[in-house]
Amino acid sequence: MSKTPIYDFVQKYAQGENVRLHMPGHKGKRNLGCEMYDITEICGADSLFEAEGIIAQSERNLSSVFETRASFYSTEGSSLCIRAMLFMAMQYADGKKKVLAGRNAHKSFMSALALCDADVDWLYGDDLYSCKISPDELDAALTNGEYFAVYVTSPDYLGNVLDIKGLSIVCHKHNLPLIVDNAHGAYMKFTGNHPMDNGADMCCDSAHKTLPCLTGSAYLHISKSAIKPYEKDAKRAMSLFASTSPSYLILASMDKANEEMLGDFKNKVAETCRLCDELKAELSHLGIEFTGREKLKINIKPKTAGFLGTELASLLEKNGIYPEFYDKDNLVMMFSPGNGAEDFERLTSFFRGLKKREPVQQTAPVVKRLERAMSVREAVFSPQRSVPVNLAEGKILASACVSCPPAIPIAVCGEIIDKCAIECFEYYDIDVVNVVEQ
Ligand SMILES: Cc1ncc(COP(=O)(O)O)c(C=O)c1O
Repeated sequence: MSKTPIYDFVQKYAQGENVRLHMPGHKGKRNLGCEMYDITEICGADSLFEAEGIIAQSERNLSSVFETRASFYSTEGSSLCIRAMLFMAMQYADGKKKVLAGRNAHKSFMSALALCDADVDWLYGDDLYSCKISPDELDAALTNGEYFAVYVTSPDYLGNVLDIKGLSIVCHKHNLPLIVDNAHGAYMKFTGNHPMDNGADMCCDSAHKTLPCLTGSAYLHISKSAIKPYEKDAKRAMSLFASTSPSYLILASMDKANEEMLGDFKNKVAETCRLCDELKAELSHLGIEFTGREKLKINIKPKTAGFLGTELASLLEKNGIYPEFYDKDNLVMMFSPGNGAEDFERLTSFFRGLKKREPVQQTAPVVKRLERAMSVREAVFSPQRSVPVNLAEGKILASACVSCPPAIPIAVCGEIIDKCAIECFEYYDIDVVNVVEQ
């Protein structure tokens, strides 16, 4: 069996002298340079949502890399997997309408709630920023038996990692599935703490975030110990929310990555973790502090070095170094084996050249819990209008306006915007919000 059946097929087709009487319209002719590999479901190419040929084979390869009961490709990121996972869990909901979820959920989860017509209760953890949900907190929240699933995000954008093992034990005690948004943690299969090895029932991985894959690449995994046969609904669930034109460039890229992951990828990840640790030690000597404990992400608290994240990012960018994310309080740098030692050297010399300053004392306003006026679905599907943030007090948020900063949404659709939320919006430079027309 080939380790790269999709890649092999696409490569062979690209090299043949074929008359392309099929989509896409570029007919394999150069423009960007990748068109020759960009095909559609021609004879032999299989079909993502009815896979029984090369795609099914490649997904089996993926499943063996991640040691799952089944794994599936998404060419539309984890966002698609998140909608599909919620839908799949609802197939076994037994009339229950509510999911219990960590409040730091990505906005694709909000759209999943709206599209699936599911209700939600939030878990906040003891610290609203890191949303560190403990097994005890989860256990206490599950006593009323209202929920059909538990949904958490780990790692989050800022590198915080939850105790998935502990949370999964609690979920299974209550006979509920644990769904994990592991969009940032695909690489954790190679550092020994992937959700599929820690008892989660389903998770999504954005392969494109940390693995050598094109943007849009993602996996939906069902674990060997999943409490229900979710795998039988996975293709139907994904096709419900997906385009009917999955990109073969993305499929081939995920297929090729399987070969790499079956090789010495684990050692490469270990080496990158070592370089990250070294860099962190160097930055600590300069007085810089961090958040999160994710191994391939360095999340600097820039104010500890006397800078706003925005200011530090612009200095980095002037030196040709582009971080993943920054706001005033955070600067996130994501690493993978694609970053060679030379990248770490450039960073080290940049930070050594920074003039030390007094820490910035200004603190971010605290995100508080808001009152809910209607469900996410009702808010999302209501007539809505844009208003300047300073005029939004008392109005109901209608569409998600932040995806990550400050990791926890300031307000979720259906919640009433109060003074404190306005202060947070303003702090994070959000000037306009969409509210429900009343
Ligand atoms: C925590 C989290 N979950 C899900 C997603 C969505 O992933 P994708 O962009 O692969 O659709 C993101 C995107 O940044 C994210 O940060």
